[in-house]
Amino acid sequence: MSRIAYVNGRYVPHRAARVHIEDRGYQFADAVYEVIAIANGRLVDGGGHLDRLERSLRELRIAEPMTRRALEAVMAEVIRRNGIRNGSIYMQLSRGVAPRDHPFPANPRTQVVMTAKHGAPPSPKIAEDGVKVITQADIRWSRCDVKSVSLLPNILAKQAAREAGAYETFMVDRDGMVTEGSSTNAWIIDGDGALVTRPASNAILDGITRRRVIDLARQSGIKVVERPFSVDEMKRAREVFLTSTSAYVTPVTQVDDRTIANGKPGSTTLALRERYLAFMAQVA
Ligand code: PDD
Repeated sequence: MSRIAYVNGRYVPHRAARVHIEDRGYQFADAVYEVIAIANGRLVDGGGHLDRLERSLRELRIAEPMTRRALEAVMAEVIRRNGIRNGSIYMQLSRGVAPRDHPFPANPRTQVVMTAKHGAPPSPKIAEDGVKVITQADIRWSRCDVKSVSLLPNILAKQAAREAGAYETFMVDRDGMVTEGSSTNAWIIDGDGALVTRPASNAILDGITRRRVIDLARQSGIKVVERPFSVDEMKRAREVFLTSTSAYVTPVTQVDDRTIANGKPGSTTLALRERYLAFMAQVA
């Protein structure tokens, strides 16, 4: 089945999908995006992702291009035309196409692009072994709560991880506290056995997986504390893990040169991973 993209009202072959060179997303990163997992042909936490998309648009004063129902219909059609059972959908909404000039254009028309891809779940080996994470200064702006396509610092952080043979980079604020990963949220199990993650604020993206995992943990009777934690505390933590739409719940067994606990994925992390996979399976 050939890949089909959605570009401003048209379904076109993926390889022929184009936007204008004066799309403000292209020139200024004046655009927002979402990545939503698809399990058994259905969106995983679609409502949460669309709520966050609408919030990102509102915060940047980019006009909603269509109603939520219409957007859902387009998403369903993109999934159908690409025959996706398991994978993800990507959508990007930019402020519009206009002659290059910093202020908002007079009559912007929000541009909408969507693609979808097949994807196997992360390999079980990752869950068995855990992954390595490195740490670096967080050099991003102060509106990380907005899911903007302006991802240059995140890209540099992810590339640094790749070059260090690591899976992810956790970014660290000026006070030595972990903000989040370049495309994931960061978690620890602290000395009291509590599940700890940084509270949602403009310093992090409030992950949809993050929210779901908080819910699942509370349902399992695990104590959840939303507070910042330092790199030092993380390195001494009982368990460390990360979450995202595509990584689900992934154990972290090494941070920089430090092995976490006994170097094996923690039991709470693995239990939460199982709970999350079960949640995904029942979405269908
Ligand atoms: N990344 N933090 C950042 C900076 C992110 O880019 C993401 C998502 C997350 C996790 O959010 P969620 O659980 O809603 O996926 C946290 C997506 C997957 C990406 O950029 O591909």
